[in-house]
Amino acid sequence: MANPHFGKLADVWKHVALAEVVELERPRRYAETHAGSAAYPIVHDAEREFGILRFLKVAAGSDLLARSRYNAVTAFWLNDRGLYPGSALQVMTILGDDSSYLLCDMDPESAADLQYWGRELNLSRCEVAQTDGMAAVAAWLGQHADQPGLVHIDPFDPDARGPAGYSALDLAVRVAESGTPLVYWYGYEESSDQAWAYARLTSRTRTPLWCGDVLVTGTSGTPGDLGIATTPGTGFGVILANVHAGTADACTTLGNALAEAYADVVFSDGSRGSLNFTTRSNGQAV
Ligand SMILES: C[S@@+](CC[C@H](N)C(=O)[O-])C[C@H]1O[C@@H](n2cnc3c(N)ncnc32)[C@H](O)[C@@H]1O
Repeated sequence: MANPHFGKLADVWKHVALAEVVELERPRRYAETHAGSAAYPIVHDAEREFGILRFLKVAAGSDLLARSRYNAVTAFWLNDRGLYPGSALQVMTILGDDSSYLLCDMDPESAADLQYWGRELNLSRCEVAQTDGMAAVAAWLGQHADQPGLVHIDPFDPDARGPAGYSALDLAVRVAESGTPLVYWYGYEESSDQAWAYARLTSRTRTPLWCGDVLVTGTSGTPGDLGIATTPGTGFGVILANVHAGTADACTTLGNALAEAYADVVFSDGSRGSLNFTTRSNGQAV
């Protein structure tokens, strides 16, 4: 398994937004550049206690989070099988056979897991590509442009160029300018980098973008660390392009509900903190 970060808070926000976008946009084609494994046996440690396990507890007391598609999908997999569903399984659970799938991951174990769950769910059009996701999705983008699709880019390294010459950010610009719905995830470890990917993408394309950014704040004094995910100064966000205004609004509502549900939490080291959720659109923080 090449993704040790499943189920941490950074995954929670990514998947809350992704599941809602997919539910509302209902794409007939879905492509993901860095799909990871489909499912992960749940781990009970401090990061998951702060991430997915806390989310499920606070969602029970929040109408908005309880109604989110993420809550339903994740509770189903965790309660039923003890598995955390990664992004691809979130989407496959929501869309089922109404969509075709291109799921890319260079890691053989992740690719095998994606193939296994595509078969288990009886998906008739699920292609798993054990190859560079930027090259494969760039080629996919040019095919069947008449059928609405959605691209999810969740990069390890946003600037690394693969064999087709595209970095994740290059591909995000291309997807945004093609008119195809886009979900792009980014992370950072210093509060001064808040919404950095939004700034970089808006400098490269005039396509309207929406950005929902979560910054972990607190008093512990330790530096941010995306690998740990709950240290103050750590942050992560989701950028959307080419989705309906109501879809971005739904993500804004969920981001605010998430921040409210995590107000004044206690981190594993005993210090207190909270989540600072901000949105940006067309260059303006809103
Ligand atoms: C953070 S994980 C993906 C998590 C997943 N998107 C989710 O949200 O559940 C990143 C994955 O990217 C894969 N990866 C790294 N470089 C890649 C590339 N150039 N093309 C495709 N996959 C890549 C790794 O093997 C790893 O499984």
